[in-house]
Amino acid sequence: MKCRRCRDRAVVDVRRHNAAFCGPCFLHHCREQVRRAIDDFDMIRPGERVLVAVSGGKDSLGLWDLLRELGHDADGLYVGLGIGAYSDESGRYAREFAHARGLKLVEVDLEADHGFSVPDGARAARRAPCSACGLSKRHVFNETAIAHGYDVLATGHNLDDEAAVLFGNVLRWETGYLGRQHPVLPAAPGFARKVKPLVRLGERELAAYCVLRGIDYIVEECPMAHGNRHLGYKEALNAIEERSPGTKASFLFGFLERGHPRFAADARDEREGLEPCLRCGAPTPGDGRGEALCAFCRLQARATGSGRP
Ligand code: AMP
Ligand code: FES
Ligand code: ZN
Repeated sequence: MKCRRCRDRAVVDVRRHNAAFCGPCFLHHCREQVRRAIDDFDMIRPGERVLVAVSGGKDSLGLWDLLRELGHDADGLYVGLGIGAYSDESGRYAREFAHARGLKLVEVDLEADHGFSVPDGARAARRAPCSACGLSKRHVFNETAIAHGYDVLATGHNLDDEAAVLFGNVLRWETGYLGRQHPVLPAAPGFARKVKPLVRLGERELAAYCVLRGIDYIVEECPMAHGNRHLGYKEALNAIEERSPGTKASFLFGFLERGHPRFAADARDEREGLEPCLRCGAPTPGDGRGEALCAFCRLQARATGSGRP
């Protein structure tokens, strides 16, 4: 197989694009996909400060590298979730990446800074670990971006992730979530702008990118995520993609063009009527008396046995 760009020997094929690339042209392809996503969705403007949430995995470390390659001013944020050896190791990869390149990594540790770990939170609130984890991450990402004055918070969600989340939301017709599912969530009072610059790249492309760039990343998946619904959706979509390459991308981008505008009002309604959380100030659905706690502070209160509820 020959490289689509330079006709040299190809080393990576991208079936969705019916194309193959040599190493240097594949890296160029990845940068172009990210540059296009950033431009098409107006994610990051020149000179803005970006905080990249990095888990130590291929997607987020690849994203940090790609943003720097494209000339963006991007620091990293690692959140210690307290998931045993998995967290220790993922933190090590994030630190090593930053250290080797002389980059700034902001660290927040759920246990040391907020008094509980994801397993504690899940147990106390009788929630699935991934739900306690997702809630905590979203809260810490937003709080840290605002506290440190970043313009944008970027996460490593890729095409496969976004297609799987969309699939799940469609299967249950979660109209509020569908209205919020977009590669850019604009800033609002108490909310930093959130962007997903990897929406045009698949999981396999990110893995190949990291190998070609010599980026070491944690390969193991989170031990608490085994068998969760999201992985089932990914497997189902992979089976369809195998037969019809390009289906995932047309599912996601067709939704963004033609479906999302129909649900945007549901998400806007949810953002209205928010009040600052009594404890941390994060926007949260009000109780009419100005005494509401946000979901994160409620989880923390349960997990640490501090105050209500
Ligand atoms: P996940 O929710 O594990 O699918 O991860 C989605 C994105 O969230 C990743 O691509 C990262 O950008 C970010 N992320 C996940 N875990 C962490 C973590 N422990 N610290 C910082 N960012 C994270
Ligand atoms: Fe959140 Fe596994 S990374 S539960
Ligand atoms: Zn709060």
